[in-house]
Amino acid sequence: MTKKGFIFDLDGVIVDTAKYHFLAWQNLANSLGISFTEEQNEQLKGVSRVRSLEKILEWGNKTISEEEFTRLMTDKNEEYLKYISKMDDSEILPDVVRVLDTIIKKDQMIALGSASKNARVILDKVALRDKFHAIVDGTNVTKAKPDPEVFLIGAKELNIAPEHCIVFEDSVAGIQAANAANMISIGIGEAKILHEADYVFKDFTEMNDDFLNNLLTNQNA
Ligand code: BG6
Ligand code: MG
Repeated sequence: MTKKGFIFDLDGVIVDTAKYHFLAWQNLANSLGISFTEEQNEQLKGVSRVRSLEKILEWGNKTISEEEFTRLMTDKNEEYLKYISKMDDSEILPDVVRVLDTIIKKDQMIALGSASKNARVILDKVALRDKFHAIVDGTNVTKAKPDPEVFLIGAKELNIAPEHCIVFEDSVAGIQAANAANMISIGIGEAKILHEADYVFKDFTEMNDDFLNNLLTNQNA
């Protein structure tokens, strides 16, 4: 049987860090007199730190200097890291460990494919780093999702052809990146939002071992 590569996004797939990104961006936006809603936060999922700040400034119709931009990015990340520093394995999303362990037991390959530059810190905080054969994050890529770069590097590091890789993603940009990489895309979240994915599950509790086994035996996957 051909070996498969399973590539996981981090934020919103393995851990619910979107709430911490939200708090930090909201504080920053409010300090600039810009309102920031949970709906707008949705639009920042999978989006890089630089692009997120650009979007918030666009929403608030604000122009700032380059120095101010850099300072705000640093401030945002420092606040975000304060939340992260308190994380532990209780913040791993339901059934993530079951799915990872099922894949490991089947002797398949696992990579992380995240836009975050904090990915390694977070994996250490929740004690999951050991489960990954490769980690590709915001420090390794030059092009943001929906560009397929992050997943293509992941496949390469796993030494698995892209068409034998399966991506788990909670963002629209990430699903588009997986599709562009010619990989099977599995959305974790709402089907209405992630309609471009090959399959969508509300969360991992809905993904049974039969589904995972089928991915392993499906010759097209
Ligand atoms: C993505 C998140 O995984 O990483 C985005 O969905 C975030 O919300 C992006 O902006 C970059 O993360 P970081 O940790 O490098 O600021
Ligand atoms: Mg995500």
